[in-house]
Formats: sequence, C-alpha cells, structure tokens
Amino acid sequence: MENIIASAVSQVGDTGHETAPRRSPPGSFVIFGGGGDLTRRLLLPAIYNLACAGLLDDGFSVVAVDRAELTDEQLQRNVRAALEDFAARRGAEAVTLREDVWTWMKPRIRYVRGDFETMQTYQDIAAVVGDQNCIFYLAVAARFFGPIVDRLGEAGLVREGRHTFRRVIVEKPFGNDLSSAVALNERLLRTLTEQQIYRIDHYLGKETVQNILALRFSNGFFEPLWNRQNIDHVQITAAETVGVEQRAKFYEGTGALRDMVPNHVMQLLAMTAMEAPISFDADAVRNEKTKVLDAIHPLSPQDVVRGQYAPGVVNGKEVPGYRQEPGVDPHSLTETYMAMKFQIDNWRWAGVPFYVRTGKRLAARKTEIAIHFKSAPYALFRDTPVDKLAPNIMVIHIQPTEGVTMQFSAKIPGPSVRLGGVRMKFDYAEWFSEGPSTGYETLIYDCMIGDATLFQRADNIEAGWRAVQPVLDWGQDARSLDFYAAGSEGPEAADALLARDHRHWLKIG
Ligand code: BG6
Repeated sequence: MENIIASAVSQVGDTGHETAPRRSPPGSFVIFGGGGDLTRRLLLPAIYNLACAGLLDDGFSVVAVDRAELTDEQLQRNVRAALEDFAARRGAEAVTLREDVWTWMKPRIRYVRGDFETMQTYQDIAAVVGDQNCIFYLAVAARFFGPIVDRLGEAGLVREGRHTFRRVIVEKPFGNDLSSAVALNERLLRTLTEQQIYRIDHYLGKETVQNILALRFSNGFFEPLWNRQNIDHVQITAAETVGVEQRAKFYEGTGALRDMVPNHVMQLLAMTAMEAPISFDADAVRNEKTKVLDAIHPLSPQDVVRGQYAPGVVNGKEVPGYRQEPGVDPHSLTETYMAMKFQIDNWRWAGVPFYVRTGKRLAARKTEIAIHFKSAPYALFRDTPVDKLAPNIMVIHIQPTEGVTMQFSAKIPGPSVRLGGVRMKFDYAEWFSEGPSTGYETLIYDCMIGDATLFQRADNIEAGWRAVQPVLDWGQDARSLDFYAAGSEGPEAADALLARDHRHWLKIG
C-alpha cells in the first residue's frame, strides 16, 4: 500500500544536449505491399512525420508496389486520405495535415502495379528507381519474403554502386520456429549481405525501449546494482486488452508464443539483461544482445504456462472467448497467453529469474519491466512497529504510460517508526515536450542513414527462436492449456508459477 505519493523528481539541469539530426540521403523508398494496412496506418504517417521534421532529402520518393490497378493520382489520393485520418487521430488533440508538407510529398509518390513473383514487376521498379539509393520495404505476408528478395537479386536491383546503397527491410514474422528462421536467413543471405538486411521489430522503435539502454548506461547509479547481488528477480509484462480481432487466420497458426516472445519480449529481456556494449555501434550492441539470449537456460515444462481467453468482461463490455471468435476453430488449442520463467546462465544473472508474461484480453493494456531488488535486512527494525520491509521495485513503463517509477520505503511522519511505500515517477510526456513517436519514424530514418543498431542481425533473430524452441517442440495439447476469463489477470497457473518461488506478479489492471 502506498501511503505517501512522492512528486516527480525535481528538475535537474537541462533535458539533454542534442545535435540536429542530418537529412536522409536521397533515394527511393519502395514498399512491397504499398496498398496494405501497415503501409496506410504506420509507414506513410511515419514518412509524413519525417517530412514534417525536415529530415527527408528533396531527392526522396516513395514507390508503392502492389497488385491493385491504380494510377499515381489515385494512389496519391489514397495516401492523402490515410494521412488525414492519421493526423486526425494523432495524440489527444486532433491536428490538421500540413499543406506545405503534402505539397512537397505528393509528387514524390509513385505507384508500380505488379505481382510480387513476376519479373516484369521488377523491371518496372528498375525503370522508376534508376540507379539511385533504394530501400525495399517488405510489408507483405511472410511467404513473400524469400521470393521477393530472390527476384530483386535476379533483376540486379540489390547491386550497390560505389556511392549508392540498396537495403531491404524485412517485417515480422521472421520464420515460425528456429529452423525456418535459419532457412530464411540463409535464403536472404544468398542474395544480400548481412549489412543490407534490416530485420525490423517495431518494439525497438519505441522510445521507452530505446531508453532502457540510455537509463542503464548513461547513469552511474544503476549499473553497480544491476546484478544478482542486488536484484531478486525481474518481471516482464506485455499485456493487451484487444482480442484476436480480424486476424484469426494468422493467429490460429501463430499463437501468443510465436507472435510476441522470440521477438518483442526477447528484445525487452535482452535490453534489460545485456552487458554494456563497448560502444553504441550496431555490431557492438547486437553482439551483447545475442550473448545474453544465448545464455538463457533451456526451458522446462514446469516453467511455462500456456493460456487461452474464455468469455469475460473487458473495459466494462462483455466479450466472447477465443474459441467463439470469428474464424477460430471451436476446439482451438492455440494459446493467447504465455507466462515463462527464464534463467540466464551467466555471472551477472545466475539465480535471478526473469518471469515474462504476455497475453491478449487481459485486465489492462500494459507493457512494463519491473526490476525487483532484494529487501534490506530486517534486523534493525525488530523492535519497531514495522513488521516487514517492502522490496524496492523499479518499473520501466513502456506503454501506455511511458516512464520510470521507483518504489521505496520512507518514514511516515510521526513519533513512532512506521514506514510507507513511496512512488517516485518520471513521466516521459510530462518531462519532455515532444511525445514519443509511433516508432516507425526512427526505424525508417535509421535505415536511411545506415544505422542498424535497432534492427536485428541474423544471430539475434535465431537466438530469440532458440530460447523458445523447447516449447514449440513439446507441441500443443489440451492438458497444457489453462483458460482465463477475458479481462482478468491471466490464468491461475501463472500465479502458481511465481507462488512456487514465494513471489507474485505485479497487478496488470
Ligand atoms: C504485433 C503482434 O507484432 O505486436 C500483435 O503481431 C500485437 O498481435 C502487437 O498486438 C503489439 O504491439 P504494440 O506496439 O501494440 O504493443
């Protein structure tokens, strides 16, 4: 119980030194799946935001590639509508589209109609992009990743010049288990070099995820405590209130484990647990991430909980169970929730469990990392009214709130020694005037300037899959599925996973 709520940390110094980011190099941003949902909802708004920030070169253009019959003018109208929709939904207050930016952007939007597997499409793309720099963004279903890259290679579109680059951004899901991820890496690497491949994980575009490294390595006081001497355990939560929505076809064959754990959750775990890199150079950071993921101890069945949501109430509204959702098999064994206990076998973390959980239709939308420190020795308080000491917890809030909370004890004013839980909070939005972005801006811009730090290298992806592969190998059966009511904290078995270690989860809702 918190008796005292401390105010936000008082303002110390300025909010940081910034050098103005440079403009992107000129070139074409070619989107396969240019008519799709991801492009409309996230990629085009991100490009618009980069244009608003003055970060795009005058020689920049967008080339959308898709199968529908469209002219450049029709596409431009669709893009404008998507941007208006985005601008109107942006943040709490609606904003209108900036006409000066749209006037700049419109003539830079081109359309190429074509099938992703037909060579003619690639010849048409070549005619539009010429010999400029190019980024090819694969915003398509995963089955097209290999074929598109093969064709790009055959058409000579990924050959780099002395002063020009050719890069490919690959969306998720990158494989559906370890062996398919390895096979996809091998296939892409037949055509591209590792430096040309940018495997995206949109979690790495979140400001607060990037802030984990800034927090850990730009402050003197965290790192000395960041180890098994001082940390009791870590809880990582990625909880959603949404259900499967319109994605049953994809989700039935995917489930919560594949959808969230080897990628997003492993990124959070790696950022929290990795050793300090020797620099922020892409390879230095990615070496450390792979090292820590490779140190994960193979999972045992008793350390894993698979759950599926049953009917319930979310945000005051009755919702169906997963098996009643449209397009879902009424006997489906697909999990919509996973909780796992990971152990990292290295000097820093031996004996410190990392409990992770992720699920749909939970009590609240909340992504956070909670570092539970070991309690102070009680002896000193033996003769006081204090009956136990609460552990210190540092919570890194990723979403929807973005910031950091520290929980500690303080003396409640008065003649006797009584302690109250205090919460000290840093709120991103309150402190920095600029709200965190949707995430894709940073990732797209980084790819343009050739900074791969926030993208996954082949070995990072494979290490994430390797950590969860034992669970995939056990297969699914009815015994391994625990049901939870939609809108709840998750299955009881997940509570039991921690109770066994005399611990409990922080509340989601
Ligand atoms: C996606 C998953 O990668 O991440 C979705 O496929 C999930 O199922 C989403 O809802 C969560 O991302 P965010 O940014 O909304 O937390």
